[in-house]
Amino acid sequence: MAKKKITVIGAGHVGATTAQLIAYKKLGHVYIVDVLEGLPQGKALDLMESAPLEDFDSRVVGLNSYEETANSDVVVMTAGLARKPGMTREDLRDKNAVIVKSCCEQIIKYSPNCFMIVVTNPLDTMTWVAKKYTGLDKHRILGMAGVLDSTRFRSFISMELGVSNEDVHATVLGLHGEDMVPMPRFSSVADIPITELLSKEKIDELVERTKHGGAEVVKLLKTGSAYYAPASSVVNMVESIILEKNRIIPAAAYLEGEYGIHGMFMGVPVRLNWSGIADIIELPLTDEENAALQKSANAVRESMANLSV
Ligand code: 2OP
Repeated sequence: MAKKKITVIGAGHVGATTAQLIAYKKLGHVYIVDVLEGLPQGKALDLMESAPLEDFDSRVVGLNSYEETANSDVVVMTAGLARKPGMTREDLRDKNAVIVKSCCEQIIKYSPNCFMIVVTNPLDTMTWVAKKYTGLDKHRILGMAGVLDSTRFRSFISMELGVSNEDVHATVLGLHGEDMVPMPRFSSVADIPITELLSKEKIDELVERTKHGGAEVVKLLKTGSAYYAPASSVVNMVESIILEKNRIIPAAAYLEGEYGIHGMFMGVPVRLNWSGIADIIELPLTDEENAALQKSANAVRESMANLSV
């Protein structure tokens, strides 16, 4: 089977780590695009020089323009500014919207049938901007953060209980920000709900840590935001699409009435395969959970209403 073509827009930490994982997992040829001359070419060359040791045969190409990205199967949008300590994701909105718009206008000219995964923050709003400027069908465009927020929740549960990550499942819905909605009722260890294994106080503590998971890393790094877990999260989604895995994972999907929400992207469980978002799964929520989700939706609506593009 011909190798797939995957374009990563943005050669920063998230983009470069995503490219590395895609190459090492042999998911396809990787094209890295960035406006900075030399940066994508240098990272691509460095990755190619690791190929004999990492045993991959795909091409990794660095570019400052879009022609060579033509007919990409999957596009990962990471372009944009990252947070510094003290900033919220919303503080990045206007500058990143301009960047995402311009990248989308370019990429879609050459790859009108791609699947796009958006990573740029504020995530849910930027995915909406990307849909607007690519015109992609709602099945072909989605935002990354549900996998990231869930993997953070999973890792905190696993560290707390001293159990293998393999046995821990967790669900986080809603926007990628402080109003995200971790779902203890739908989170389990070896099929046992965590509500049976941890006290309410401990669960509340892990939920709060999850909500501020990105900020915790930003505070430690001081010069930027997380990239290992974000890149792993994107690649998990790329794998589900390219390998037709039909994984059910939380991702920012375009909602048209699901959960009573219309015309915006937000994190919900989706089934991902070679048709992109095959289904959106509606979980039966309690009144309290639904109220938290609607609060999340209101925050995304407010962000969209303030958009300058
Ligand atoms: C995070 O949560 C970068 O928003 C991303 O780390």
